[in-house]
Amino acid sequence: MEILVTGGAGYIGSHTCLELLREGYDVVVIDNLSNSHKIALDRVEKLAEKTITFYEADVMDKAALENIFTNHHIQAVIHFAGLKAVGESVEKPLSYYKNNLISSLVLFEVMQQYAVKKLVFSSSATVYGVPENTPITEEAPRATTNPYGATKLIIEQMLEDIAASDSSWQISLLRYFNPIGADISGLIGEDPNGIPNNLMPYITQVAAGRLEEVNVYGQDYETHDGTGIRDYIHVVDLAKGHLKALQYSYYGVEAFNLGTGIGSSVLDVISTFEKATGTQIKHKIVNRRPGDVAKCYADSSKAQKLLGWTAEKTLYNMCKDSWEWQSRNPNGYLK
Ligand code: NAD
Ligand code: WQD
Repeated sequence: MEILVTGGAGYIGSHTCLELLREGYDVVVIDNLSNSHKIALDRVEKLAEKTITFYEADVMDKAALENIFTNHHIQAVIHFAGLKAVGESVEKPLSYYKNNLISSLVLFEVMQQYAVKKLVFSSSATVYGVPENTPITEEAPRATTNPYGATKLIIEQMLEDIAASDSSWQISLLRYFNPIGADISGLIGEDPNGIPNNLMPYITQVAAGRLEEVNVYGQDYETHDGTGIRDYIHVVDLAKGHLKALQYSYYGVEAFNLGTGIGSSVLDVISTFEKATGTQIKHKIVNRRPGDVAKCYADSSKAQKLLGWTAEKTLYNMCKDSWEWQSRNPNGYLK
């Protein structure tokens, strides 16, 4: 079964390609490498001992997509391609609206044209905005606080309208919580450009000596130790969730939260990282980061019930595997 993976060279995409190959799927990737390196896919091929068909192209390029759908018997699409940095989206909203919305629009048009109507879409817990209650269920109201989140919300709405207009579509909206970790081999992982915005790559770069200390954004939240709580999920568990969504037989559109259901504070993550890796993470408390919420964690019981999926790896595993990747590749893929 041939699966098209958009953005397959990226962090979550590369881990999902590996799981797909291991489960016997044929994988075709389209990626413009705007935030990734081809070497990630070379390493996936090495780990799986199988090959990937790679197209270096932009998903906004309709002719490139038509060429792929003509040359392959694509049966389903996993759509990761997109820009994902919240802060950058506030500075460059037009780039985010253009890249994320136009690429999705063109992809869905070409899928319709070739009657390929099974889609797994990378959505995000960001569609819940500031959650009223935790744990968050899929029925929680959707709202956005930044242009990146707005693109996810608009694409979800686009897909709901497509499914309403044509009942032969099968669409999963996977709302990821906070993906961290790496394949246990340490050969593939997250390789952010510049200084990381997210907590785990920041911690691993402090551990590697690339950064001085972690700034803990606020210790005055209403949480057990005053620091922000999130639902960190191992990227390999997340990747496996995509396979479950592909195998799920239904018509229409369904949203699924992919998280562990366990909330961990910033200080929990730092202390677990220290235990898992034997390193010391220098850190200091600074002001809250604007836009952050106190608590965000998932109720993932719908994914368990309908997809038969649950996250298996612990925060300890996530820290250990993140560090394995960072310590084997101190400067990321190419440097
Ligand atoms: P990533 O940046 O590592 O991967 C995205 C990939 O898409 C990159 O390889 C990039 O080169 C490619 N790409 C971007 N625009 C493209 C275009 N127009 N045409 C072709 N390729 C294009 O990001 P990731 O962390 O792997 O995230 C994958 C998806 O999951 C994204 O849609 C992101 O919004 C979503 N998501 C990520 C997180 C997270 O914390 N990492 C959380 C929730 C949702
Ligand atoms: C986690 C916690 C910070 C960095 C973001 C996006 C979200 C989704 C996942 C795409 C918070 C604290 C962080 C640091 C810190 N991405 N922190 N010092 O903000 O929960 O989610 O990534 O869809 O949309 O918003 O993740 O890793 O940035 O922060 O204290 O240097 O760590 O305040 O409590 P976040 P994060």
